[in-house]
Amino acid sequence: MTTTRNLSLFQTLLLVLACQCCAEVAAVFDHVTGTANLIDGIVSTANQQHRPPAAPLPLGIRTPANRRGSVAINGTKAAVYLKGNGNAVFDVKKYGAKANGKSDDAQAFMTTWIAACRNTTGPAKFLIPKGIFLVGPVTFAGPCKSMPITIEIQGTVKATTDISEYSSPDWISIEGITGLILTGSGVFDGQGASAWPYNDCKINNNCQILPNSIKFTRLNHSIVDGLTSINSKGFHTSVFRCYNFTATNMNIMAPGNSPNTDGMHLSTSKLVTISSSTIGTGDDCVSIGHSCEKITVTNVTCGPGHGISIGSLGRYKTEKSVLDVLVQNCTIFNATNGARIKTWANTISGSAVGIVFDNIVMRKVKNPIIIDQTYGTKEKKASKWKISDVHFKNIRGTSTTNVAVLLECSELFPCEGVELRDINLSYGGASLKNTTTVSSCLNAKIKTFGVQNPPACVVQH
Ligand SMILES: *[C@@H]1O[C@H](CO)[C@@H](O)[C@H](O)[C@H]1NC(C)=O
Ligand SMILES: *[C@@H]1O[C@H](CO)[C@@H](O)[C@H](O)[C@H]1NC(C)=O
Ligand SMILES: *[C@@H]1O[C@H](CO)[C@@H](O)[C@H](O)[C@H]1NC(C)=O
Ligand SMILES: *[C@@H]1O[C@H](CO)[C@@H](O)[C@H](O)[C@H]1NC(C)=O
Ligand SMILES: *[C@@H]1O[C@H](CO)[C@@H](O)[C@H](O)[C@H]1NC(C)=O
Ligand SMILES: *[C@@H]1O[C@H](CO)[C@@H](O)[C@H](O)[C@H]1NC(C)=O
Ligand SMILES: *[C@@H]1O[C@H](CO)[C@@H](O)[C@H](O)[C@H]1NC(C)=O
Ligand SMILES: *[C@@H]1O[C@H](CO)[C@@H](O)[C@H](O)[C@H]1NC(C)=O
Ligand SMILES: *[C@@H]1O[C@H](CO)[C@@H](O)[C@H](O)[C@H]1NC(C)=O
Repeated sequence: MTTTRNLSLFQTLLLVLACQCCAEVAAVFDHVTGTANLIDGIVSTANQQHRPPAAPLPLGIRTPANRRGSVAINGTKAAVYLKGNGNAVFDVKKYGAKANGKSDDAQAFMTTWIAACRNTTGPAKFLIPKGIFLVGPVTFAGPCKSMPITIEIQGTVKATTDISEYSSPDWISIEGITGLILTGSGVFDGQGASAWPYNDCKINNNCQILPNSIKFTRLNHSIVDGLTSINSKGFHTSVFRCYNFTATNMNIMAPGNSPNTDGMHLSTSKLVTISSSTIGTGDDCVSIGHSCEKITVTNVTCGPGHGISIGSLGRYKTEKSVLDVLVQNCTIFNATNGARIKTWANTISGSAVGIVFDNIVMRKVKNPIIIDQTYGTKEKKASKWKISDVHFKNIRGTSTTNVAVLLECSELFPCEGVELRDINLSYGGASLKNTTTVSSCLNAKIKTFGVQNPPACVVQH
């Protein structure tokens, strides 16, 4: 990464906006280099949005005893805690889950969660054993006294299919926890096929968004290892207001034509690593939204899908800049885009700075390298989102269109410091007539090094 910044702390002011088409709650995010006490936890509203568990009452952040358990811990401490692997096991079947694949086990899941989260013995494990569990919307909220708290899935958890049950846009919401571990070889099945026809976002700007399968909100020092998610209704996973979040060995799958089924969408998060995962879906494999910092995506195989994307950015005025993103050692195949940055042609300003795409193999990708600052609108306003310090390095393979490199930057804020180094993208499309690849650029200040196939646009050293 070419830019390094001091770790800053989250100062957050949650603005619960009715979100139209972006499947996330927008938030104001301020970078404060001051002290942690500026940011005391924010009271969760999710338990009110969901059906409350029967008994005991939802975990109250109001309870002082629980609150004490949420004191921010540092990385050293986190590493020590995460060595524990759950000696107190809370099995959903022992709390009433039927595992018959027919009756909704959501209540049992939430009761189990509360027991695990309140347990004081240290590490605790929430266990979903082998079996098929039908589950409606559930919230697993902290703070927890047990730490770390592991969710281990061995069986298959299927989402209920009646979308009117989903009052908040998530199926499984995991929030407000330090030291969460999600692991296991089981499957989260969003059963999205019956819901996808209700997605009309292509024609309706104010479309009703379908539930994310798993939303991670306000998690610190957390690890997702081995998640399998299939056929989500909306996004497979969404990471929001998380700090120091690692996701590895994920297997994410939905058909290439399923609408808005992003693999992992990030926003307002810092220090996130996504690695060694296979993502094939109907939208972005990974999308790095607004207000994100220090994000690494590595060893991810993506396809089909819409590639690995920064953005879209600049739709709502609460959005802040994206800083320091490294996408390295990835393969993208049978996708509409490869390495992409997209911003709305809008009057909202912000920036995307310090973005590196390095060592990426493209196989049959429609737009292998693309910056699009006219995203999402038909209006021809110039975007006020400034893109700079962007590096496309060692990117090779095939493009299914002739325009293998497309850099369409803003007239008002041209892209600056765009490095193209060792680019080798040959034509791999269906045409027999024109098998050359070209570059097309608008308002982009680029620097080139090494191999350039296609030949680069204007070079400005
Ligand atoms: C991030 O969390 C991991 C545990 O998952 C811990 O080992 C590491 O030290 C943390 N890093 C920071 C910067 O807090
Ligand atoms: C982090 O926590 C550990 C264990 O409590 C402590 O020894 C260490 O000094 C702390 N580090 C910082 C930077 O606060
Ligand atoms: C924590 O869980 C252990 C193991 O199930 C149990 O023995 C203990 O009573 C629980 N403690 C509390 C406070 O719930
Ligand atoms: C996460 O860390 C931040 C900053 O240290 C802290 O303010 C916040 O309360 C922590 N969240 C949780 C859920 O522990
Ligand atoms: C490419 O993806 C589309 C769906 O987007 C799928 O129908 C097709 O079979 C895939 N082709 C290959 C070669 O994987
Ligand atoms: C890359 O990810 C695959 C799983 O998709 C894994 O098998 C492999 O070991 C990973 N390689 C590295 C270098 O981490
Ligand atoms: C990418 O692969 C190289 C070579 O194996 C390795 O040195 C580098 O650490 C990898 N990048 C990341 C972010 O893991
Ligand atoms: C091939 O297509 C590119 C992009 O549309 C165009 O610029 C180029 O002139 C075409 N070459 C030939 C030989 O038709
Ligand atoms: C570019 O890629 C093609 C196809 O893989 C290969 O034959 C060629 O040698 C590469 N060119 C350079 C300069 O690496």
